[in-house]
Amino acid sequence: MGTVFITRAIPGDAVAVLEAAGHAVQVWPGALPPPREALILRASLADAVMAMVTDRFDAEVLAACPRLRVVANMAVGYDNVDPAVAAEAGVWLTNTPGVLAETTADLAWALLMAAARHVVASDRDTRAGGWKTWSPTAFLGQDVHGATLGIVGLGEIGTAVARRARGFSMRVLYASRTRKPALEAELGLEYASLDDLLAAADFVTIHTPLNAETRHLIGAREFGLMKPTALLVNTARGTIVDQAALVAALRAGTIGGSALDVTDPEPLPADHELFAFPNVIITPHIASASFATRSRMARMAAANIIAVLEGREPPNAVNRPPSPRRWA
Ligand code: NAP
Ligand code: GLV
Repeated sequence: MGTVFITRAIPGDAVAVLEAAGHAVQVWPGALPPPREALILRASLADAVMAMVTDRFDAEVLAACPRLRVVANMAVGYDNVDPAVAAEAGVWLTNTPGVLAETTADLAWALLMAAARHVVASDRDTRAGGWKTWSPTAFLGQDVHGATLGIVGLGEIGTAVARRARGFSMRVLYASRTRKPALEAELGLEYASLDDLLAAADFVTIHTPLNAETRHLIGAREFGLMKPTALLVNTARGTIVDQAALVAALRAGTIGGSALDVTDPEPLPADHELFAFPNVIITPHIASASFATRSRMARMAAANIIAVLEGREPPNAVNRPPSPRRWA
């Protein structure tokens, strides 16, 4: 059967599932992603790769791996591979939609709450000995309940975030490519242009994919539209926000703060200016990181690989190679 290269150690039973299907599995042993040369070397010996968001499969890598038939991302986002380029090379590209939506929405919500109520800054201060007494004025934050939430990108994750907002009696606006009347009725959402959403929201949370349309979707002009108290939450992709413009807005006080699970680049250099703002929270791209969800993602990626290696169409294809590669 086939040889499968998995670019990092993964949780759960996906390796066993691949082996039970008759495939030989090799797992990159490093804690860091394989460097490009190693990625090419290992992938060139494989029929399938289970890839992470950190692995870039461009035309050069795909051409150097003529045996490779599928790149199965263990992620819903696939901005690390151009689907059209992979299709042209005869390689299926797959992702893991849906299974991580609730877990990712949980973290978006955790970041929103933490930013609104200074959870991280006050913990840091307490550990440093700053808690001297109950204070009527320390760490005054913003109410989440009853506030206005703006969701940019109402897909699987954006919708899961919207559902949670109901419990906080929020007004929820959304901006998305497609209007969704059924969800508006079910969840009491209001469709808005991006500009109107930015002007009205106390909290803005981003849930679009990264693509040519959404790169720097939130830049200097957009920060200028936001309330000076507004908090920006980004669990989608760092490059959707123009980070230099975000730093400028934070410096100028144009917005109230930000909570980011994704940055540009990842990781940020240790001396990056974003780390200096007390009203900024940064987590290391962990939105889908529960054991159960990461295990489900890996299993889903394994199912996509097994399908391709058995000559079937993968269930979660994001491209359709006109001439898929066959067994070498
Ligand atoms: P999804 O179900 O495909 O939803 C994305 C939504 O964005 C869709 O509703 C889509 O359009 C909308 N959209 C696309 N382009 C847009 C644009 N230019 N302007 C406004 N809306 C636009 O994907 P998902 O599962 O929710 O995931 C979203 C993204 O989150 C992923 O692509 C990934 O990059 C990121 N993510 C990050 C983590 C993490 O660990 N931090 C975890 C999971 C996902 P329609 O309105 O037409 O439906
Ligand atoms: C993670 O970033 C994903 O896209 O699943």
